Amino acid sequence: MSVPFLDLRRGYHGIRDEILLAVERTLESGWYVLGPEVAAFEREFAEYCGTRHAVGVGSGTDALHLALRACGVKPGDGVVTAPNTAVPTVSAIVAAQACPVFVDIDPRTMTLDPERLRARLSTPAAGPRVTAVIPVHLYGGPADMDPILEVAREHGLMVIEDAAQAHGVEYRGRRAGSLGQAGCFSFYPTKNLGACGDAGMVVTNDADVAERLRMLRNYGEEAKYRSRTDGFNSRLDELQAAILRVKLRHLEEWIAERRRWARLYAELLADAPVTLPAEPALGRHVYHLYAVRSARRDDLQNYLQSRGIATIVHYPTPAHRQPAYVALGYDEGSFPEAERACAEVLSLPLYPEISEAEVRRIAEVVRSARRPIPEA
Ligand SMILES: Cc1ncc(COP(=O)(O)O)c(C=O)c1O
Repeated sequence: MSVPFLDLRRGYHGIRDEILLAVERTLESGWYVLGPEVAAFEREFAEYCGTRHAVGVGSGTDALHLALRACGVKPGDGVVTAPNTAVPTVSAIVAAQACPVFVDIDPRTMTLDPERLRARLSTPAAGPRVTAVIPVHLYGGPADMDPILEVAREHGLMVIEDAAQAHGVEYRGRRAGSLGQAGCFSFYPTKNLGACGDAGMVVTNDADVAERLRMLRNYGEEAKYRSRTDGFNSRLDELQAAILRVKLRHLEEWIAERRRWARLYAELLADAPVTLPAEPALGRHVYHLYAVRSARRDDLQNYLQSRGIATIVHYPTPAHRQPAYVALGYDEGSFPEAERACAEVLSLPLYPEISEAEVRRIAEVVRSARRPIPEA
């Protein structure tokens, strides 16, 4: 049996009629960008996240970039994030003309370590003045937000959540995206709530931030052909919004399925030679990715590949060691926990429509790697 990492057609086939109805309704409406579907999706997604406002934009990267600007991050400001994030977290900081500042992770959650954040901010260091922090809810597990928010309050920082992988994540009863000044989502097709193209959203409780975002995404316009600020073109289109509205109605059942497969993996892999993702004590993991860890990750990946099981490494190179960002001056060894995580993580296939037989097969092969891993 060969097992793909992900098959998006299975999800589509499950809701094909609803999607096609929504697409037909939108095409017939003759309104294709920033119209009633976007407005309705913004209302519905804000309600889902427990925030007062939501502003649809072109991608998750744009959500972060525009949120930084809307929250008042200025050119040259330092913005802290974790080194093991997806590169777009960092590109968004640079797009906002700010300077990425990295702080190492807590190895248990693989997200920004609040104590290391406190230490970094309390130690006078050369470099830019830090004005904001972007905790990343990596793989669909919550960052430890309360201590991060506390440190941010002590140091007057804005908190902008990277919730690109975290639709429906909960932290002490609150939804990801609703915890800081702004929460940024990606609806890239592979995400837990995925469009059929690029799309993103910023949610916030701050009416001024929402208003600035609405201008920034649309040429800086406060009214038709009247630009109050410099701006961009990063608009959510009607087709994506209509499709996302359909999918939002299914999100909770899909999260329940993801959690069911994660429980089955945990049961089947209890004695396997890998470290399993930990269920958060304080919230709900939504298992966007099921990232196990192994000191012999590359051997394990090759072994699984040789038995027809596709896996992906999220992410092999920490952001501070990417060619694009070496000029920031962080050497190898600067962030040992994030670097170790990047060397050890391996995402196993997990999505709502994966079959039980596939999960059992994957687990069986991972378990069989307990013996010395043979050459692929
Ligand atoms: C953690 C994280 N941040 C930001 C992004 C950027 O989102 P997008 O691909 O929609 O621009 C992604 C998605 O790839 C992500 O995983």
